[in-house]
Amino acid sequence: MRILSGFQPSGTLHIGNYFGAMKPNLEFQKLGESYLFIADYHALTTNPDPAALRERVYNVALDFLACGLDPEHTVFFRQSDVPEVVELMWILNNITTVGFLERAHSYKDKIAKGFMPNAGLFTYPVLMAADILLYQSDLVPVGKDQKQHLEITRDLAIRFNERYGEVFTVPEGHIPENIAVIPGIDGQKMSKSYNNTIPMFGEDKAIKKLVMSIVTDSKGLEEPKDPDRCNVARLYKLMASPEQYDALCAKYRAGNFGYGHAKLALWELLNDYFRPMRERRAELAKDPGAIEEILKRGADRARETARATMERVRRAVGLR
Ligand code: ADP
Ligand code: TRP
Repeated sequence: MRILSGFQPSGTLHIGNYFGAMKPNLEFQKLGESYLFIADYHALTTNPDPAALRERVYNVALDFLACGLDPEHTVFFRQSDVPEVVELMWILNNITTVGFLERAHSYKDKIAKGFMPNAGLFTYPVLMAADILLYQSDLVPVGKDQKQHLEITRDLAIRFNERYGEVFTVPEGHIPENIAVIPGIDGQKMSKSYNNTIPMFGEDKAIKKLVMSIVTDSKGLEEPKDPDRCNVARLYKLMASPEQYDALCAKYRAGNFGYGHAKLALWELLNDYFRPMRERRAELAKDPGAIEEILKRGADRARETARATMERVRRAVGLR
């Protein structure tokens, strides 16, 4: 079973990204033969500054490796190192109707917000289909927001196979249902667009300041408190052992335990939990050449699969 996933290089990781996407994804990738890439072609749809794009791709690579991605098991690569994907996209474009793409949510949202989307954004789902079909993926773990892209991919695979013969594996999406929404320091969903995040790889003091600013109710020190309604306790629970969490709940309910105490406990736990990953990241960052080497090696492996698929695709459509 081949499992494939792609990540946009979209800035500094926060703990919502880690618990909501990265950790479940890394665990899922262990269940089969795994491909994971950094979607830098997709990132071009927002016209990023070139140096910033390069920097973000490098940072995502560091993030994944620091979080435990094993490049021996996972074929880990940069999307643009396998340009065959763009060729496949072109071929798929010709079995995709404009009306079909006009119904895509992400495109419709941009139009509704008054943006003038470029053609790259319009055909974003076709490039994503090419990503998935090029590697004959069986399973694609994605967030809910990507569900429609998966449906478009399946549709294109079926359409292609019907017209030209069986070339593509028709992939299944895997959308985890039981992933909690991680709250930010203001209690809303943690998101970089709300400016309420706690970064994974931030500096100790800066993180302490953020943790101390988590919004709570105004109960006094002596009053008993309800951990189920507290953002600090919700975050604590993500990283705590069951015993640690029970102990915290008991302190909340007993009173004489203030939110300041709870926040310090959370800060310490955060540090303990992410320290090994932070140290690993700092270690890896000392040798950018080695990161590049890992991505190159991943691309070589990915490209073998890509070339085999493209041989069949070209022959099927009459290019050979
Ligand atoms: P942001 O909202 O900060 O822009 P992204 O949209 O780039 O984050 O999210 C990347 C991934 O992280 C997505 O799969 C998303 O579901 C997950 N994610 C982001 N924030 C949270 C959160 N607060 N709780 C759970 N998962 C999250
Ligand atoms: N569109 C995905 C996102 O924004 C990233 C992505 C690009 C992807 N190609 C993919 C995900 C292929 C899974 C499979 O999160």
